[in-house]
Amino acid sequence: RYPVICIDGPSGAGKGTVTWRLAQALNYQLLDSGALYRIVGLKAFEAGLITADTNQTIDETAVLALTQSLEIAFVPNNESGRVDILVNGEAVGEQVRNETVGGYASQIAVFPTVRQALLKLQQDMATRSGLVADGRDMGTVVFPDADVKVYLTASAEARAERRVTQLLNAGQTADFEAILTTIKARDERDENRTTAPSKPAEDALLLDSSTLDANTVYEQVKKHCQD
Ligand code: CDP
Repeated sequence: RYPVICIDGPSGAGKGTVTWRLAQALNYQLLDSGALYRIVGLKAFEAGLITADTNQTIDETAVLALTQSLEIAFVPNNESGRVDILVNGEAVGEQVRNETVGGYASQIAVFPTVRQALLKLQQDMATRSGLVADGRDMGTVVFPDADVKVYLTASAEARAERRVTQLLNAGQTADFEAILTTIKARDERDENRTTAPSKPAEDALLLDSSTLDANTVYEQVKKHCQD
């Protein structure tokens, strides 16, 4: 298989930027594993398996059947340099990117059978070219023998602050306290689930980006890859 670099960590720690820049610099493909969980979360919502109530009980068997019914493909897009994700032949757009869908994703991501159903698709990415993989369990479960593992963290406050800036820059409104509450709820679910909880692999470099800018984080990760 080809070289694999795993960048794991919680929402808003800056994984996206590092992953993207590394993939560009090394000419590797990028695996956005969160997008898979977001797609399943969105489809489960559309199918009525998830409602807006966060305390609901979700039917794992039904979500698994739905996941298995989806034909998900990663297609390198030479124009954008990114990997497009096709679901049943259709490109998944920006609609999976919002925080509501992130919440749906983390609710279905607790199911072991659903995670298992998405495993091979992710591992297959490393059979085609070098890979930079972004997620929660890249270094612990999906690519345990990866060449480089990084766990990127930051305080919940720093991550909420970044999200506020992002939203304001996009011309949207943003409420710091509300964002902080959703970030903490998602962390709590992702870190405490029994299957593939979000945590650093034993051999991962731990990097706290709370007081570092994106460029410094990138430089440190790149240096770690060269070591
Ligand atoms: O971009 P952000 O970090 O906010 O989220 P994401 O990486 O797109 O992941 C969305 C959700 O999917 C996470 O909160 C996790 O619950 C789940 N996820 C996971 O369980 N395992 C992964 N490898 C990636 C994401």
